[in-house]
Amino acid sequence: KSVVWRASVLHFLADPSQQSSYGEAWEFFEDGALLIEDGHIKNCGPSDQVMNNLPSGTEIKNLPGKLLVPGFIDTHVHYPQLEVLAGCGVQLLDWLNQYTFPAEKKFSDPEYASEVARFFLDQCISHGTTTALVFGTVAPQSVDAFFSEAHQRNLRMIAGKVMMDRNAPDYLLDTPENSYKDSKALINRWHDKGRLSYAVTPRFAPTSSSEQLKLAGQLLREHDGLYLHTHLSENPKEIDWVQELFPDSKHYVDVYDQHGLLGPRSVFAHSVHLCDHSWQRMGSSGSSIAYCPGSNLFLGSGLFNLNKAKAHGIPTGLGTDVGGGTSLCLLNTMKDAYQVSQLREETISPLQAFYLATLGGARALHLEDKIGSFRKGNEADFLVLNPAATPMLEFRTKTTKTLEELLGVLMVMGDDRVIEKTIIMGQEA
Ligand code: GUN
Ligand code: FE
Repeated sequence: KSVVWRASVLHFLADPSQQSSYGEAWEFFEDGALLIEDGHIKNCGPSDQVMNNLPSGTEIKNLPGKLLVPGFIDTHVHYPQLEVLAGCGVQLLDWLNQYTFPAEKKFSDPEYASEVARFFLDQCISHGTTTALVFGTVAPQSVDAFFSEAHQRNLRMIAGKVMMDRNAPDYLLDTPENSYKDSKALINRWHDKGRLSYAVTPRFAPTSSSEQLKLAGQLLREHDGLYLHTHLSENPKEIDWVQELFPDSKHYVDVYDQHGLLGPRSVFAHSVHLCDHSWQRMGSSGSSIAYCPGSNLFLGSGLFNLNKAKAHGIPTGLGTDVGGGTSLCLLNTMKDAYQVSQLREETISPLQAFYLATLGGARALHLEDKIGSFRKGNEADFLVLNPAATPMLEFRTKTTKTLEELLGVLMVMGDDRVIEKTIIMGQEA
């Protein structure tokens, strides 16, 4: 069964800051159409071209004035931290102790975990996030609850159980052996089930012993296609602490490197403060970065150097990092990235921001052959955006003249109200 969606259509083929010409880096069809068959992209182009080649019986959805874009990808978020959103007054290490750890304790209750997972995924959908790389808690039940709800919604999601065996309250600690066994059981239950993938998830270097980090590396070697998901160099006090805990390492990246945790499916959240050698190792190992501008501002962590990541060829996506971040909305996160780039005098364009939230995220997760653009054969996860969703937006978008200007307005003034529909594998969610 096929359906054609007629509206304006935008997607990316490459990074617009590297390949800056229209048609090479992005395609925009003001009067465009997207043909979906069996949940996949069958055709994408100007409407006259697409509409002239419709299989018989194709359902036609006319959406004048709307904009179709690929679903947003959140490359770093903690579903158990929704209830600590907007916890003010502290930076990272105190924030973890004061707000985060007590909240994560509750997820040993599978009922509670399921309830929050349902709410989280419903909110992802209403915010236009169709794929995310997600932290659970140390309790394996938290990850069972999450995957079970994601599977029911047919969402492409990646998640994992937190591994942490030291420097946190007793009620949140596992052991190297238990974390290995519990992770392995979750991998066997969920990895590659439908659209789900597993991420081995040591919280960050300070909360894992060397023994536990070694076992994390062992899990990666024992199964195909797993991700490694952790935090890296977010806050100066955290970085000093890592140096004390791992005196034999050259720097923070080296701690993960020594335990075999760098590589093309490894995603490091933050990476705000890196020395040149660290940047080089991140690049040469093929590791990815989840850039979390909203969290870095809210927790006062620092201003990420996006140009360094580009210069070293490090695939970089955007992460909301809720609850360190303040919103699940990738439009808000693009705005934060834009504002950080202004402070750094390395101003990014709205096109660059939309690239980061779509194809950039897909590349950081090595999923660009499945999601992130309207390439033929990709899975049909996409959004119907309404540029006139609020009175202010309607007033403002009446006078926008170029695509760039429109994207700037959506990113700066928009929020989840702009997301009119979220389509998962061709189906309205
Ligand atoms: N570093 C270790 N744990 C966390 C967390 O939960 N959030 C953030 N932002 N950084 C961390
Ligand atoms: Fe985080």
